[in-house]
Amino acid sequence: MIVPGASSQALAAALAAELGEPLAAVEYNRFPDGETLAAVPEFDAERAVVVATTDSNDAWVELLQLQDAVREAGASEVVTVIPYMGYARQDRAFEAGEPVSARAMARAVSTGADRVVLVNPHEESISDFFDAHVTICDAAGRLAEPLPDDLADPLFLSPDAGATELAEAACEAYGSGETDYFEKTRHSGTEVEIAPSDADTEGRDVVIVDDIVATGTTMSEAVSHLDDDGAARVFAACVHPLLAQNARTKLERAGIERVIGTDTIERDVSVVSVAPLVAAAVDAVEAA
Ligand code: R5P
Repeated sequence: MIVPGASSQALAAALAAELGEPLAAVEYNRFPDGETLAAVPEFDAERAVVVATTDSNDAWVELLQLQDAVREAGASEVVTVIPYMGYARQDRAFEAGEPVSARAMARAVSTGADRVVLVNPHEESISDFFDAHVTICDAAGRLAEPLPDDLADPLFLSPDAGATELAEAACEAYGSGETDYFEKTRHSGTEVEIAPSDADTEGRDVVIVDDIVATGTTMSEAVSHLDDDGAARVFAACVHPLLAQNARTKLERAGIERVIGTDTIERDVSVVSVAPLVAAAVDAVEAA
Protein backbone atom coordinates (compact mmCIF):
# COMPACT_ATOMS: atom_id res chain seq x y z
CA MET A 1 0.00 0.00 0.00
CA ILE A 2 1.34 3.44 -0.99
CA VAL A 3 1.16 5.99 1.82
CA PRO A 4 1.55 9.63 0.74
CA GLY A 5 3.04 12.45 2.75
CA ALA A 6 1.19 15.74 2.27
CA SER A 7 3.93 17.10 -0.03
CA SER A 8 4.02 14.05 -2.31
CA GLN A 9 0.40 13.29 -3.10
CA ALA A 10 0.65 13.41 -6.90
CA LEU A 11 3.87 11.39 -6.97
CA ALA A 12 2.42 8.82 -4.57
CA ALA A 13 -0.63 8.41 -6.83
CA ALA A 14 1.63 7.96 -9.87
CA LEU A 15 3.71 5.44 -7.94
CA ALA A 16 0.58 3.52 -6.90
CA ALA A 17 -0.41 3.30 -10.58
CA GLU A 18 3.11 2.19 -11.59
CA LEU A 19 3.24 -0.52 -8.94
CA GLY A 20 -0.44 -1.51 -9.16
CA GLU A 21 -0.80 -1.03 -5.41
CA PRO A 22 -3.61 0.77 -3.55
CA LEU A 23 -3.17 4.35 -2.45
CA ALA A 24 -3.86 4.78 1.27
CA ALA A 25 -6.18 7.48 2.57
CA VAL A 26 -4.15 9.73 4.85
CA GLU A 27 -5.44 12.40 7.20
CA TYR A 28 -3.22 15.37 7.91
CA ASN A 29 -4.25 17.33 10.98
CA ARG A 30 -2.76 20.05 13.13
CA PHE A 31 -3.34 20.74 16.81
CA PRO A 32 -3.81 24.27 18.12
CA ASP A 33 -0.25 24.28 19.50
CA GLY A 34 1.15 23.60 16.00
CA GLU A 35 1.83 19.89 16.34
CA THR A 36 1.07 17.82 13.24
CA LEU A 37 -0.82 14.53 13.21
CA ALA A 38 -0.66 12.39 10.06
CA ALA A 39 -2.80 9.25 10.32
CA VAL A 40 -3.59 6.29 8.04
CA PRO A 41 -7.00 5.14 9.38
CA GLU A 42 -7.60 2.20 7.04
CA PHE A 43 -4.12 0.81 6.49
CA ASP A 44 -4.34 -2.85 5.62
CA ALA A 45 -1.30 -4.37 3.90
CA GLU A 46 1.86 -6.28 4.62
CA ARG A 47 4.10 -3.68 3.01
CA ALA A 48 3.86 0.08 3.36
CA VAL A 49 5.62 2.35 0.88
CA VAL A 50 5.69 5.75 2.55
CA VAL A 51 6.37 8.52 0.00
CA ALA A 52 7.19 11.85 1.56
CA THR A 53 9.27 14.73 0.32
CA THR A 54 10.77 16.48 3.32
CA ASP A 55 10.82 20.10 2.20
CA SER A 56 9.76 21.45 5.61
CA ASN A 57 10.13 20.57 9.27
CA ASP A 58 6.44 19.59 9.36
CA ALA A 59 7.02 17.21 6.46
CA TRP A 60 9.84 15.51 8.40
CA VAL A 61 7.61 15.00 11.42
CA GLU A 62 4.75 13.71 9.25
CA LEU A 63 7.11 11.22 7.65
CA LEU A 64 8.10 9.83 11.05
CA GLN A 65 4.43 9.72 12.07
CA LEU A 66 3.40 7.85 8.90
CA GLN A 67 6.16 5.28 9.42
CA ASP A 68 4.99 4.76 12.96
CA ALA A 69 1.29 4.67 12.04
CA VAL A 70 1.67 1.92 9.43
CA ARG A 71 3.86 -0.13 11.76
CA GLU A 72 1.23 0.29 14.46
CA ALA A 73 -1.42 -0.84 11.94
CA GLY A 74 0.50 -4.04 11.30
CA ALA A 75 2.86 -3.42 8.37
CA SER A 76 5.65 -5.97 8.46
CA GLU A 77 7.81 -4.01 6.01
CA VAL A 78 8.17 -0.25 5.66
CA VAL A 79 9.88 1.15 2.57
CA THR A 80 10.35 4.89 2.86
CA VAL A 81 10.75 6.95 -0.30
CA ILE A 82 12.16 10.43 0.25
CA PRO A 83 11.90 12.02 -3.21
CA TYR A 84 13.55 15.25 -2.06
CA MET A 85 15.49 15.06 1.15
CA GLY A 86 15.60 18.37 2.98
CA TYR A 87 18.66 19.02 5.16
CA ALA A 88 20.77 16.99 2.72
CA ARG A 89 22.93 20.02 2.06
CA GLN A 90 23.82 20.09 5.78
CA ASP A 91 25.92 16.98 5.28
CA ARG A 92 28.84 18.08 7.46
CA ALA A 93 29.60 20.40 10.34
CA PHE A 94 30.93 23.42 8.43
CA GLU A 95 31.95 25.21 11.63
CA ALA A 96 32.68 24.10 15.17
CA GLY A 97 29.54 23.38 17.12
CA GLU A 98 27.32 22.70 14.11
CA PRO A 99 25.37 19.45 13.78
CA VAL A 100 25.51 17.11 10.81
CA SER A 101 21.80 17.64 10.24
CA ALA A 102 21.48 15.20 7.32
CA ARG A 103 22.85 12.45 9.55
CA ALA A 104 20.45 13.32 12.38
CA MET A 105 17.48 13.13 9.99
CA ALA A 106 18.70 9.90 8.42
CA ARG A 107 19.07 8.27 11.82
CA ALA A 108 15.57 9.32 12.81
CA VAL A 109 14.09 7.85 9.60
CA SER A 110 16.07 4.65 10.07
CA THR A 111 14.30 3.93 13.33
CA GLY A 112 11.05 3.29 11.42
CA ALA A 113 12.10 2.17 7.93
CA ASP A 114 13.39 -1.18 6.75
CA ARG A 115 14.57 0.33 3.49
CA VAL A 116 14.92 3.81 2.05
CA VAL A 117 14.75 5.12 -1.53
CA LEU A 118 16.26 8.54 -2.31
CA VAL A 119 16.19 10.53 -5.56
CA ASN A 120 19.40 12.42 -6.33
CA PRO A 121 20.34 13.27 -2.75
CA HIS A 122 22.73 16.19 -2.69
CA GLU A 123 25.69 13.80 -2.22
CA GLU A 124 25.50 10.03 -2.66
CA SER A 125 27.48 9.62 0.55
CA ILE A 126 24.34 10.70 2.43
CA SER A 127 23.19 7.09 2.12
CA ASP A 128 25.93 6.20 4.65
CA PHE A 129 24.04 8.16 7.30
CA PHE A 130 21.10 5.73 7.23
CA ASP A 131 21.14 2.54 9.25
CA ALA A 132 18.52 1.15 6.83
CA HIS A 133 19.40 -0.09 3.32
CA VAL A 134 19.35 2.79 0.79
CA THR A 135 18.66 2.74 -2.95
CA ILE A 136 19.43 5.90 -4.93
CA CYS A 137 17.53 6.86 -8.11
CA ASP A 138 19.14 9.17 -10.66
CA ALA A 139 16.57 11.31 -12.50
CA ALA A 140 19.03 13.57 -14.37
CA GLY A 141 18.63 11.79 -17.70
CA ARG A 142 14.87 12.28 -17.58
CA LEU A 143 15.35 16.06 -17.59
CA ALA A 144 16.06 15.91 -21.33
CA GLU A 145 12.55 14.67 -22.14
CA PRO A 146 10.68 18.01 -22.13
CA LEU A 147 13.40 19.84 -24.09
CA PRO A 148 12.50 20.90 -27.64
CA ASP A 149 13.82 18.63 -30.41
CA ASP A 150 15.36 21.56 -32.24
CA LEU A 151 17.97 22.82 -29.75
CA ALA A 152 20.64 24.76 -31.67
CA ASP A 153 24.11 23.27 -31.16
CA PRO A 154 23.14 22.48 -27.55
CA LEU A 155 25.46 23.00 -24.63
CA PHE A 156 24.64 21.34 -21.29
CA LEU A 157 26.26 23.25 -18.46
CA SER A 158 26.44 22.52 -14.76
CA PRO A 159 26.81 25.47 -12.37
CA ASP A 160 29.69 23.79 -10.56
CA ALA A 161 32.06 20.88 -10.99
CA GLY A 162 30.00 18.78 -8.57
CA ALA A 163 27.00 18.70 -10.92
CA THR A 164 28.86 17.72 -14.11
CA GLU A 165 27.48 14.18 -13.98
CA LEU A 166 23.95 15.57 -14.09
CA ALA A 167 24.71 17.68 -17.16
CA GLU A 168 26.40 14.71 -18.83
CA ALA A 169 23.42 12.46 -18.12
CA ALA A 170 20.97 15.01 -19.54
CA CYS A 171 23.17 15.55 -22.60
CA GLU A 172 23.48 11.84 -23.23
CA ALA A 173 19.73 11.35 -22.87
CA TYR A 174 19.07 14.24 -25.26
CA GLY A 175 21.27 12.53 -27.82
CA SER A 176 23.46 15.42 -28.95
CA GLY A 177 25.40 18.35 -27.57
CA GLU A 178 28.43 19.19 -25.48
CA THR A 179 28.92 19.55 -21.75
CA ASP A 180 30.90 22.00 -19.66
CA TYR A 181 30.71 23.54 -16.19
CA PHE A 182 31.05 26.82 -14.35
CA GLU A 183 33.22 27.32 -11.28
CA LYS A 184 31.04 28.31 -8.32
CA THR A 185 32.03 29.77 -4.97
CA ARG A 186 29.26 30.07 -2.39
CA HIS A 187 29.59 33.01 0.01
CA SER A 188 26.28 32.54 1.87
CA GLY A 189 22.85 30.95 1.51
CA THR A 190 21.88 33.58 -1.05
CA GLU A 191 25.22 34.75 -2.45
CA VAL A 192 27.27 32.84 -4.98
CA GLU A 193 30.07 33.82 -7.32
CA ILE A 194 30.18 32.10 -10.70
CA ALA A 195 33.18 32.07 -13.03
CA PRO A 196 32.23 31.63 -16.71
CA SER A 197 32.98 28.38 -18.49
CA ASP A 198 35.46 28.33 -21.36
CA ALA A 199 32.86 27.02 -23.80
CA ASP A 200 31.81 29.23 -26.70
CA THR A 201 28.09 29.89 -26.23
CA GLU A 202 27.40 32.45 -28.93
CA GLY A 203 24.21 31.57 -30.82
CA ARG A 204 23.83 28.26 -28.99
CA ASP A 205 20.93 26.93 -26.94
CA VAL A 206 22.12 26.27 -23.41
CA VAL A 207 20.65 23.94 -20.81
CA ILE A 208 21.90 24.53 -17.26
CA VAL A 209 21.47 21.38 -15.19
CA ASP A 210 21.61 21.24 -11.39
CA ASP A 211 20.26 18.99 -8.66
CA ILE A 212 18.32 21.71 -6.80
CA VAL A 213 17.05 25.15 -7.62
CA ALA A 214 16.51 26.63 -4.17
CA THR A 215 16.69 30.43 -4.13
CA GLY A 216 17.51 30.52 -7.86
CA THR A 217 20.70 32.48 -7.15
CA THR A 218 22.99 29.91 -8.74
CA MET A 219 20.94 29.60 -11.92
CA SER A 220 20.38 33.32 -12.39
CA GLU A 221 24.08 34.10 -11.76
CA ALA A 222 25.03 31.50 -14.35
CA VAL A 223 22.61 32.94 -16.89
CA SER A 224 24.04 36.43 -16.47
CA HIS A 225 27.36 35.15 -17.88
CA LEU A 226 25.64 33.49 -20.80
CA ASP A 227 23.94 36.75 -21.73
CA ASP A 228 27.36 38.38 -21.94
CA ASP A 229 28.48 35.65 -24.33
CA GLY A 230 25.46 35.87 -26.66
CA ALA A 231 23.81 32.51 -25.97
CA ALA A 232 20.46 31.92 -27.70
CA ARG A 233 17.78 30.26 -25.53
CA VAL A 234 18.61 29.23 -21.97
CA PHE A 235 16.78 26.41 -20.20
CA ALA A 236 17.10 25.67 -16.48
CA ALA A 237 16.68 21.99 -15.63
CA CYS A 238 16.79 20.55 -12.13
CA VAL A 239 15.75 17.40 -10.34
CA HIS A 240 14.36 19.25 -7.30
CA PRO A 241 12.49 22.51 -8.09
CA LEU A 242 12.40 23.83 -4.55
CA LEU A 243 11.91 27.39 -5.83
CA ALA A 244 12.08 29.05 -2.43
CA GLN A 245 11.62 32.72 -1.64
CA ASN A 246 11.75 34.85 -4.82
CA ALA A 247 13.38 32.19 -7.01
CA ARG A 248 10.71 32.37 -9.70
CA THR A 249 11.12 36.10 -10.09
CA LYS A 250 14.91 35.77 -10.25
CA LEU A 251 14.71 33.14 -12.96
CA GLU A 252 12.14 35.12 -14.92
CA ARG A 253 14.19 38.30 -14.70
CA ALA A 254 17.29 36.39 -15.78
CA GLY A 255 15.51 35.63 -19.05
CA ILE A 256 15.30 31.86 -18.75
CA GLU A 257 13.20 30.40 -21.55
CA ARG A 258 11.77 27.57 -19.45
CA VAL A 259 12.32 25.92 -16.07
CA ILE A 260 12.09 22.13 -16.05
CA GLY A 261 11.85 20.05 -12.90
CA THR A 262 10.63 16.71 -11.63
CA ASP A 263 7.81 15.85 -9.26
CA THR A 264 10.13 15.15 -6.32
CA ILE A 265 8.80 18.57 -5.33
CA GLU A 266 5.35 19.32 -6.69
CA ARG A 267 5.45 22.66 -8.49
CA ASP A 268 4.01 23.89 -11.79
CA VAL A 269 7.39 23.20 -13.44
CA SER A 270 7.36 19.54 -12.29
CA VAL A 271 6.74 18.13 -15.76
CA VAL A 272 8.91 15.02 -15.38
CA SER A 273 7.69 12.25 -13.11
CA VAL A 274 10.20 10.16 -11.20
CA ALA A 275 7.48 7.56 -10.50
CA PRO A 276 8.83 4.96 -12.98
CA LEU A 277 12.35 5.26 -11.52
CA VAL A 278 11.09 5.03 -7.94
CA ALA A 279 8.84 2.08 -8.81
CA ALA A 280 11.81 0.22 -10.24
CA ALA A 281 13.84 1.00 -7.13
CA VAL A 282 11.04 -0.21 -4.84
CA ASP A 283 10.78 -3.42 -6.86
CA ALA A 284 14.56 -3.82 -6.83
CA VAL A 285 14.46 -3.33 -3.09
CA GLU A 286 11.86 -6.05 -2.89
CA ALA A 287 14.06 -8.37 -4.92
CA ALA A 288 17.15 -7.54 -2.83
C1 R5P B 1 24.50 23.26 -4.34
O1 R5P B 1 25.57 22.70 -4.25
C2 R5P B 1 23.39 22.72 -5.18
O2 R5P B 1 23.89 21.84 -6.12
C3 R5P B 1 22.63 23.82 -5.89
O3 R5P B 1 23.49 24.47 -6.80
C4 R5P B 1 22.12 24.81 -4.91
O4 R5P B 1 21.38 24.17 -3.93
C5 R5P B 1 21.25 25.85 -5.58
O5 R5P B 1 20.84 26.76 -4.61
P1 R5P B 1 20.32 28.20 -5.01
O6 R5P B 1 19.21 28.03 -6.01
O7 R5P B 1 19.84 28.79 -3.72
O8 R5P B 1 21.46 28.97 -5.57
